[in-house]
Amino acid sequence: MKTRRWFVDSSAELSTTDPQITQAAELLRQNEVVAFPTETVYGLGANAENTEAVTKIYEAKGRPSDNPLIVHISDIGQLDRFISHIPETAKKLMKLFWPGALTLVLPCKPGVLSPRVTAGLETVAVRMPDHPVALALISSAGLPIAAPSANLSGKPSPTKAEHVAHDLNGRIAGIVDGGATGIGVESTVLSCAGKQPVLLRPGGVTKEQIESAAGPVLVDKGLTEEDEVPISPGMKYTHYAPSAPLAVADGGARRIQELADEYKSRGKRIGILTTEENAESYQADFIKVCGRRADLETVASALYDALRSFDEAEVDMIISESFPDTGVGLAVMNRLMKAAGGTVIH
Ligand code: TXA
Ligand code: MG
Repeated sequence: MKTRRWFVDSSAELSTTDPQITQAAELLRQNEVVAFPTETVYGLGANAENTEAVTKIYEAKGRPSDNPLIVHISDIGQLDRFISHIPETAKKLMKLFWPGALTLVLPCKPGVLSPRVTAGLETVAVRMPDHPVALALISSAGLPIAAPSANLSGKPSPTKAEHVAHDLNGRIAGIVDGGATGIGVESTVLSCAGKQPVLLRPGGVTKEQIESAAGPVLVDKGLTEEDEVPISPGMKYTHYAPSAPLAVADGGARRIQELADEYKSRGKRIGILTTEENAESYQADFIKVCGRRADLETVASALYDALRSFDEAEVDMIISESFPDTGVGLAVMNRLMKAAGGTVIH
């Protein structure tokens, strides 16, 4: 399949009638899959009401089919069609954080969305992305759009159109290239389907922000305890992983250099993932600077591109610094730990 590519200037005024947008939207209406930028990562979109279309997402990504998708909307009015009930807490959070990087899991009306979107659950995850290209595309298609991150399953999520093309060229109908995404890690997934909100995946909107708006939030045990199966099916897989094994080291720069030297002495090519503050502290075959430790949002924004860069550097082993788990740091550490398959070196 030839993958079409459209270039859109995300900073300029965008209209739902721009030809790039209408052509991409037309493909979505024809039940093809199209990648597009959001404020978090690039999504791989398809008509959420059509099983043939949604099946193409799973095929293109090689995604396990028990892992449900997020439905993206451009207008609150679209919810009526497939959500059976919006709890008060959810209404409040939508008002505060939509459009934005907060996905809410809500009770779903049966028979509207493809069962492949919900993977057979009675709930559905939904969000309104805060990106002009995503909003124009969804609105022009006039459909709820199911969209996971636009990467091959298991690989780091794409924050640039080049990442999407690298993984999915020839496997999808099109890519709308709107430049680099901003936040860099996926949306926060919060279940509002039960009595109290439960954090299923940390992301762009922080736990602290949600709690200051909606009171205490429970945290899915699957996120914090090794032998618990997470509620959010996607969280149980090793994810976001570069080709070489990755270990997160929590012992500071001196300890990381010691480890690097030890692996080096065994003939391995070593990569280190660090931050501007510490970049000068290391000697290794490949050193990747990922944002500033003093501003964890810069780390989140650069993380997936940094993880992908180790593949090109062809290292045998990657050691990453660890980060505080406050604010967006919680999402950064969650993704790093997934990429490392849980390997921490003390
Ligand atoms: O930022 C994002 O959220 C990106 C962009 C493209 O919007 N999308 C994204 O989608 O990360 P995906 O499919 O990679 O992640 C969806 C997550 C998975 O962890 C999945 O298990 C969870 O949401 N999820 C979806 N529906 C659910 C449900 N009904 N109950 C619990 N978890 C659900
Ligand atoms: Mg993903």
